[in-house]
Amino acid sequence: MTRGSLLVDHIGELVTNDGRDGDPLGIRRDAALLVEGGQVAWIGSARYAPAADRRIDAGGAAVLPGFVDSHAHLVFAGDRAAEFAARMAGEPYTGGGIRTTVGATRAASDGDLRATVGRLRAEMLRQGTTTVEIKSGYGLTVADEARSLRIAAEFTEDTTFLGAHVVPAEYADRPDDYVGMVCGPMLAAAAPYARWIDVFCERGAFDADHARAILACGQAAGLGVRLHANQLGPGPGVRLGVELGAASVDHCTHLTDADVDALAGSETVATLLPGAEFSTRSPYPDAQRLLDAGVTVALATDCNPGSSYTSSMPFCVALAVREMRMTPAEAVWAATAGGAAALRRTDVGRLTPGARADLIILDAPSHLHLAYRPGVPLIRQVLHNGVPR
Ligand code: NIG
Ligand code: FE
Repeated sequence: MTRGSLLVDHIGELVTNDGRDGDPLGIRRDAALLVEGGQVAWIGSARYAPAADRRIDAGGAAVLPGFVDSHAHLVFAGDRAAEFAARMAGEPYTGGGIRTTVGATRAASDGDLRATVGRLRAEMLRQGTTTVEIKSGYGLTVADEARSLRIAAEFTEDTTFLGAHVVPAEYADRPDDYVGMVCGPMLAAAAPYARWIDVFCERGAFDADHARAILACGQAAGLGVRLHANQLGPGPGVRLGVELGAASVDHCTHLTDADVDALAGSETVATLLPGAEFSTRSPYPDAQRLLDAGVTVALATDCNPGSSYTSSMPFCVALAVREMRMTPAEAVWAATAGGAAALRRTDVGRLTPGARADLIILDAPSHLHLAYRPGVPLIRQVLHNGVPR
């Protein structure tokens, strides 16, 4: 690893997310940024830039914090392209295809699963994602959930136990037994590799009573709470998450006024996943309604082979602006600082002294171009822990 200092110079627009002067993006113009020991050591005007061992000339481009993708399901085998094609021909998304991926994942070797996570993680990094959360949830046996998390932990600190993704076929007629197993031996095997616990709280998956029981067991084992909630229809998930002090409730596609009020009075982040609405041809959530109510909003990819097979945070930013009534500034904040809030992290999602030196140099003069030029590869260079990738 490189030890010396590194100066990123001639930054036309530096997004710091420092929240000062009422500008959430904390934009500085004609800036420079010094990296030392993998962290941001100094930020200031390019005119006063200190000397450094090495220098990257940003040439007037925009520099942003690396994206924080706080919701991804990367440990799986196979794909479901035919299911996607059927949806585009009019079939609805029900989540039933999860069991197809469970079958393929159980049959895969550790090496195959590791290779898939590595490939998707590399895709993400090329598109500017420097922090990613990775869930289990396609194993659904004690051994397969534990190995999914063991492999995920090779790639991130933010691993999430999602043994309660769906009730697997072999437990279809005894869901209470499955919940008992998730709370007992499965949680015991998963917890050493997990930071978070998650439940898919939805009709056809887990109801509020089962979700509450599973999340309470996870909390007792020291895991933080997050939740898949209100994706396919209105339901109890969002309010349950708020009640349990969840770091984040994710999807939030179908919200009542009571759900929005509950979120607004809480520390729980609403994480929106527009890739899922895109890929399931569903109505998008109204992000502006949440923002107007004072809710903290994050954006994430939900990368998975069923409902959202994209690894691209720039794509999600563009969708959020075009389809969810977010301004480009709100979307960029949600994809960086918002994701960090959803993971309760203060070391990423911002470029301020002491933060991890995770940053993106765009092939563009402003963050606006992420939504203005959708589908264009605008990530010129990524620094991860201060190391150019
Ligand atoms: O977040 N909704 C539940 N889980 C995933 C989809 C999983 C799948 O379809 O394989 C999601 O959208
Ligand atoms: Fe998900």
